[in-house]
Amino acid sequence: MIRVLFVCLGNICRSPMAEAVMRDLVEKRGLTLQIKVDSAGTSNWHAGEPPHKGTREKLKEMSISTSGMVSRQLRTSDLEFEYIVCMDASNVENTRDMLRAYEDTKIFRFLDLTSHKKDVPDPWYTGNFQETYELCVEGCEVLLGRILEEHGLE
Ligand code: 4NP
Repeated sequence: MIRVLFVCLGNICRSPMAEAVMRDLVEKRGLTLQIKVDSAGTSNWHAGEPPHKGTREKLKEMSISTSGMVSRQLRTSDLEFEYIVCMDASNVENTRDMLRAYEDTKIFRFLDLTSHKKDVPDPWYTGNFQETYELCVEGCEVLLGRILEEHGLE
């Protein structure tokens, strides 16, 4: 089992978006037994809440399920995930601190996988869930390709 964890600040806007998009890609490729997807927030500010309305609406529009998704905070056992994919540079820094994993290359910034090499804009502040959705799709496609290659699944 290959485990992928997406991390943002509140775990209600960006990382649940990436989680749902990635799970959808994994399901469409018939890889649900091989790849598990989850997400967490560096803060506990929204723990127990479903994804933000904007994230839910965008995903619903794209026929991607958010059923059962609930915000939770990052915990030390999350270091067991093989890929810990952070939405922005501050999430990388806080994740490394919280997991005490300063050298571990499995913790990285999501869009560094793409030519954008930037933070995923936070729709909590921008209000632009479409932009975030599109970047999540692009990033997840590259990430899935990377995972398949690294684990000889292609
Ligand atoms: P997220 O966005 O980290 O993408 O889930 C945010 C959600 C909530 C807050 C900030 C960012 N907040 O300040 O409560």
